[in-house]
Amino acid sequence: MALYEKHHCWSFLIRIWHWAFAFSIVALVITGFYINTPWTNTVIEGSASWPMAWARYIHYVAAYTFSCTVVIRAYLYIFGNAQERVWDILPITPRNIKNLWRTLLLYSYISDKHDERLGHNILAGLSYLGTWVASLVMVATGFYLLFPEVAWIATTGNAIFHSQQVARFVHHIIMWWYMIFVIIHIYLCVWNDIRFPEGLISSIFTGKKFSHKD
Ligand code: HEM
Ligand code: HEM
Repeated sequence: MALYEKHHCWSFLIRIWHWAFAFSIVALVITGFYINTPWTNTVIEGSASWPMAWARYIHYVAAYTFSCTVVIRAYLYIFGNAQERVWDILPITPRNIKNLWRTLLLYSYISDKHDERLGHNILAGLSYLGTWVASLVMVATGFYLLFPEVAWIATTGNAIFHSQQVARFVHHIIMWWYMIFVIIHIYLCVWNDIRFPEGLISSIFTGKKFSHKD
């Protein structure tokens, strides 16, 4: 019978961070869609239920939460525990390169070999890092759309995106990344949890994972 031991892997901060990030994105995607194509056709806008005003209000409250999570993840990439730091997920050491290769083989059903690891596998880690970079762009484009009257935001936004319309377009396109990411993310978390008894999904609530005892 295989024996497992319990290890602490995620800090309390990153667990709270995960759910704040996840729920804010769900709210941002739903309200973002509404802002783009109001499905009520805004015909009831003047009838005191104000759907567009509510959608925008919820979008901004979620956007501030989301912006805070982007800053917190930057802090954790540098000062988090060993599994949370950015070095742990970059393919810059032989161990990490091997993990990336093994994960690619495993996910493409070429091999069954699972590289046990306390932190994220490198492929997952890189997708999370990419999502964080995309989040920086969402914050930049979002604040440019929100505060065009603030001189330094208008100048910087203009320099980077040329016009607000380009920023809105970029803001919209990147939304699709989150929708695609979340489907693959949840699928792979469940897939891993079924195949390997490490307690992956519960780890994002409890901070603990299991590994084979030698
Ligand atoms: C994952 C994060 C986010 C998603 C998925 C998202 C999505 C969207 C979408 C789809 C739109 C409609 C744009 C269009 O197609 O016309 C929008 C508008 C907007 N978003 Fe976001 N957004 C996010 C984060 C943010 C952040 C961080 C801010 C910062 C304040 C922000 C501020 C705005 C503003 C000001 C608008 C324009 C509202 C209007 O024109 O009335 N968004 N967002
Ligand atoms: C039912 C919903 C969800 C479950 C069960 C879940 C579960 C998990 C688990 C188990 C991990 C750690 C995985 C690993 O070690 O690679 C994780 C990490 C992560 N999840 Fe989720 N997740 C959910 C929803 C979301 C949503 C909606 C988002 C955002 C779109 C999201 C974004 C992330 C990110 C960015 C990480 C990486 C954390 C880090 O940077 O260290 N998750 N999630």
